[in-house]
Amino acid sequence: MTPRTTARSTLTALALACIATLGHAQQGKLKVGLMLPFSGTYAALGTAIENGFKLHVEEQGGKLGGREIEYIKVDDESDPAKATDNVNKLIKRDNVDVIVGTVHSGVAMAMAKAAKESGTVLIVPNAGADAVTGPMCAQNIFRSSFSNWQPAYAMGEVAAKQGKKTAMTLTWKYAAGDESVAGFKEGFEKGGGKVLKQLTVPFPNVEFQALLTEIAAAKPDAVYSFFAGGGAVKFVKDYAAAGLNKNIPLYGPGFLTDGTLEAQGESAQGMLTTLHYADGLNTPRDNKFRADYDKMFKMQPDVYAVQGYDAAQMLAIGLNATKGDITKKADFAAAIEKAKIDSPRGAFTMGKSHNPVQDIYLRKVEGKENKVVNVAVKGLADPARGCKM
Ligand code: PHB
Repeated sequence: MTPRTTARSTLTALALACIATLGHAQQGKLKVGLMLPFSGTYAALGTAIENGFKLHVEEQGGKLGGREIEYIKVDDESDPAKATDNVNKLIKRDNVDVIVGTVHSGVAMAMAKAAKESGTVLIVPNAGADAVTGPMCAQNIFRSSFSNWQPAYAMGEVAAKQGKKTAMTLTWKYAAGDESVAGFKEGFEKGGGKVLKQLTVPFPNVEFQALLTEIAAAKPDAVYSFFAGGGAVKFVKDYAAAGLNKNIPLYGPGFLTDGTLEAQGESAQGMLTTLHYADGLNTPRDNKFRADYDKMFKMQPDVYAVQGYDAAQMLAIGLNATKGDITKKADFAAAIEKAKIDSPRGAFTMGKSHNPVQDIYLRKVEGKENKVVNVAVKGLADPARGCKM
């Protein structure tokens, strides 16, 4: 080869290398739409989810599947009436590659509908709406958290095993409260208990007095409640202030006491709840997660932080399998479906409807911790009623 042809072939090689790199770089940043509550009764939950998600991304050097992450945030205000507009802004205006959200079941159902129609990948880092991994299930929709049925069913079994015969329920009136009560009732009545009456207040109201008076008069063996965030703080305090906690144990899914103990103080002591996370797991995986979270955010993580962290882990698994190309939907889904997700809660797998199959812990409030008592139900899978995939 003459020096000239050598130079030419070097140039060609360089050009090819450039095109190859460009081909990769063309994918650019991966746009993640974070649609979460940053105001209202669930504001702290939204922040914990965002923190957890960002912790995992930071651990990966700011990139997932080789792509840098760009965040686009929307405060959904836990308002179902604004949900369709909010999610469509992310899908149509901002052209996000993936949506991560949200906390509120009613908002999440609108998001799932939009995700199903547009094909945009959706990872739900909290909202338990049974429908999302039931009739609305889809190849591009995943949940890193739980279904409303899961911790509720487990609590029903626990209450029955504790010898409780009668219960009243008191929850917010929307999908999460309704489905939580249905799950509790299923577990409790299977074990021989009877739900006497289902009381509700509109979301996000916190006026409980009249209903607490009704419970005091009816004297059930137990009360089961779904509340979370700011509403859970107020409810647990009001329940104790009415003196009910002395004679009628208050049960619930762990949302009743997760991320809230600082504010609930004395009123929550001794409470039993069921959830897919607990304090005092004392595994190397969870200890490391907690130390890293504390270092980055100067506070202890809660279940919401874990769910945000695992949403990022699931996204990373899908992106690693597709070399950062999230449009390869079948490969993206297949990778997550066969993964064992190394969660701080304990490793879990995805059920066929893309909801975690996971251990549900029984926890007891001691000081500022939801201390693990035991595993209430091992490897609990949501029944995924109505999911055809
Ligand atoms: C829900 O709306 O599904 C929901 C909200 C807050 C929680 C749990 C579930 O802590």
